Amino acid sequence: NTNWQDAGAVDGLPEDDVACVEIQGREIALYTVGTAVFATDNICTHGHARLCDGFLEGHEIECPLHQGRFDVRDGKALCAPLTENVRSYPVRIEAGRVLVRMD
Ligand code: FES
Repeated sequence: NTNWQDAGAVDGLPEDDVACVEIQGREIALYTVGTAVFATDNICTHGHARLCDGFLEGHEIECPLHQGRFDVRDGKALCAPLTENVRSYPVRIEAGRVLVRMD
């Protein structure tokens, strides 16, 4: 059983930037890159920093605390001090809504 959750209107997201939403009690960061939308956990895997407070450049989100970078497409940790990937979630756009698969 798949668990697609509505994360809001795609029009409500900032352009080429990161925003935070709460889905099922979990903080999720949503990234817009052009017309694509990606989703990861919002909390960094290195320390207690919120990725939505970071800086998005292309497909890379830079953590605001120690400047670790993740690829927003798959959550891959790209540089030190990160040692762990961040969880990423499949996203689908349907009728102007952002759907995030939480299972
Ligand atoms: Fe994110 Fe350290 S808390 S890089």
